[in-house]
Amino acid sequence: MTTSPFTADDATEDELADYYGLVLADARAERPDDPEPTYDSVIGRLRTPFTALGRCVHTAAYVDGTLVGLISAGLPEDENVEQAILDVKVHPEHRRRGIGTALLGAVLPTLVSARRTLVAGWGLIDGKSGAGWADHLGFRVVYRQVLQRLEVATTDRELWHVPPPPGYRAVRWVGTAPAALLESYAQARSAIHDMPSADWSYRPPSWTPERIRRAEADLRDRSVEQRVVAAVHEESGAAVGLTELEFYPHRPEFGYQQETAVLAAHRGHGLGRFIKAHMMNWVVEERPGTTHVWTTTADDNEHMRRVNKQIGYTTVRVTINVELETDALRI
Ligand SMILES: CC(C)(COP(=O)(O)OP(=O)(O)OC[C@H]1O[C@@H](n2cnc3c(N)ncnc32)[C@H](O)[C@@H]1OP(=O)(O)O)[C@@H](O)C(=O)NCCC(=O)NCCS
Repeated sequence: MTTSPFTADDATEDELADYYGLVLADARAERPDDPEPTYDSVIGRLRTPFTALGRCVHTAAYVDGTLVGLISAGLPEDENVEQAILDVKVHPEHRRRGIGTALLGAVLPTLVSARRTLVAGWGLIDGKSGAGWADHLGFRVVYRQVLQRLEVATTDRELWHVPPPPGYRAVRWVGTAPAALLESYAQARSAIHDMPSADWSYRPPSWTPERIRRAEADLRDRSVEQRVVAAVHEESGAAVGLTELEFYPHRPEFGYQQETAVLAAHRGHGLGRFIKAHMMNWVVEERPGTTHVWTTTADDNEHMRRVNKQIGYTTVRVTINVELETDALRI
């Protein structure tokens, strides 16, 4: 077995096919009820990783010239710069031979030189291989979340007929927040810091108008479409809540929920449900090819879970996030 740095752009067709084969085999073995990943979505995700991961570096493992494993390390660059978020996959036929651990060892010098003192794994499934492996390596569980899915075709659209709560209206945009709302939108987004996050070290951005413009530019650079619905308080003209979806170029039929937040002073009026319902009406109107919207929320975030249920989301599974100090890794 050998390891070497890997990028999608430099990889051969065979390497990309091997990688797709391993992701598909893993999905079939561990998440058989999920829609199967397509080749384009798997390779596209290497080129356009999820926003929260930041820049990603990859190392591949080979046995007899075949790519059988890949580790990706997300290196956030604005906040959470002390963290590396790892995703390791080994082909099911090559597991329990030390390849996952060897990949972790291979990427370690990069993590150390990038001053990543904390390593994390997100979305592991209790009782499945990743959780067992992480436990063996000494990772601790820091957060439990539910993965929820909205199946657009089968959801009763009556659930999305939610009138604006009195005194509020919806304002929506793709990619660039209107200048007149930018200041209040940044304040409303900061309410995301109120979400329950147990012992998870990951911190959402400290939103300012400047930070929002930078995030918008980053999404544009990566060809990620961001749709935002804000709740505007009629009396003050301020944005007091928002919900945000991202659509990635390689998986245009999926929407990925990002932040949903309502300022504390405006909670309890049904704004969360209103803006999420408004978002779904807008999505089916302008992106009729959308088949699923995916979201995660803390398993103890009762309010968000209730809102999601009202909109038609169902819970797919409970997952865990794990963390360990880099210098405590036992490899
Ligand atoms: C997690 C994964 C990368 C491990 O790869 P691997 O090459 O099989 O791991 P290793 O051989 O290095 O395992 C080292 C030790 O971890 C533990 N371990 C690995 N898989 C395990 C499992 N399914 N159940 C319990 N413990 C496990 C064992 O202690 C193992 O040592 P042993 O085989 O001598 O008992 C692989 O199972 C995988 O691709 N899973 C799906 C993707 C995933 O969940 N990735 C983790 C997200 S970060």
